[in-house]
Amino acid sequence: MKEDIYILAIETSCDDTSVAILKNKKVLSNIVSSQKIHKIFGGVVPEIASREHDRLIVPVLNEAIKESKIKLNDIDAIAYTRGPGLLGSLLVGTSFAKSLAFSLNIPLLEINHMQAHILSIYIDDNPEKPKFPFIALTVSGGHTQLVVVNSPFDFTEIGTTLDDAAGEAFDKSGKIMNLDYPAGPKIDKLALKGDINKFNFPKPEVKGLNFSFSGLKTNFKNFINNQPHDFVKNNINDLCASLQSTIVEILIDKLLKARDQYQINEFVICGGVSANSYLRKELKGLMEGESIKTYVPKINYSTDNAAMIGINGYFKFIESKFGELSDYSISKYPMQ
Ligand code: KG4
Ligand code: ZN
Repeated sequence: MKEDIYILAIETSCDDTSVAILKNKKVLSNIVSSQKIHKIFGGVVPEIASREHDRLIVPVLNEAIKESKIKLNDIDAIAYTRGPGLLGSLLVGTSFAKSLAFSLNIPLLEINHMQAHILSIYIDDNPEKPKFPFIALTVSGGHTQLVVVNSPFDFTEIGTTLDDAAGEAFDKSGKIMNLDYPAGPKIDKLALKGDINKFNFPKPEVKGLNFSFSGLKTNFKNFINNQPHDFVKNNINDLCASLQSTIVEILIDKLLKARDQYQINEFVICGGVSANSYLRKELKGLMEGESIKTYVPKINYSTDNAAMIGINGYFKFIESKFGELSDYSISKYPMQ
């Protein structure tokens, strides 16, 4: 096998159009164009997202090539997000990846978006990485999962959300407070100046390692609807801090439960919500108080990006786990 492997990676599963180029595990470029247009609708509009991917994919690719300083002909394989995600958006990335692989006569690597979030911890040969087996908590706008990871190809889901994802809990509660989509980062910022104990929102009782966030959202909505005019405006920092700490407590409670049940004390926390500063602070506390080791990818690899698709592609390339040009079905999680 060649000494250095160059992988071009494409991510188009939701509302970020991204292309990255990796030399082995090292990122040479990682261009992410976040589609701003959805803001006016308060959430991602699937049809618009796929049209935006179609418009952005070539300029984003050109930028990624330029920044990496390599030539298209140097690329050894194309990695792309095959699923899960919005079907139209995935189809744009899939068609593009397949055409590029066909025209360059190089192999395809089909990547599962959620597994890519987990393996993003290995980007740039990060020395702060867990040993197998570890447990991953993936918290994004579409998913909330606890997964036992035995190897880069062996994932077992042990818990998931029964309704809304953790990111949706942030985004939908933010909408109730008139915050723009996606509200997660805004709540994080506003909460910095708030009191987590000012308001008390009940945590759901969910058996085992599953999650539920829709009850919290409904509670929050009812609470706000019963307040006088200008209440949200006058209490925005405390509301954000109290809500955020409840969501984070729900996540940490399950993480501890998973540790007890599986006797694994190394955790990777990934997906967009892992960018949350209060969650990151609480995870540090666990390292001291509970002798749990937690690993969180760098912020720019936490939210959707193609570099995480590229690192997953690298693991597949060295094991010759290639995809098919003629296979168009969109697989769901889990996908090896
Ligand atoms: O992984 P991601 O970029 O896209 C999906 O695959 O869904 O996750 C996006 C989600 C959104 O719900 C967004 O509000 C949330 O991650 N998010 C945050 C923060 N940054 C992004 N939630 C809380 N705090 C943040 N700092
Ligand atoms: Zn994601």
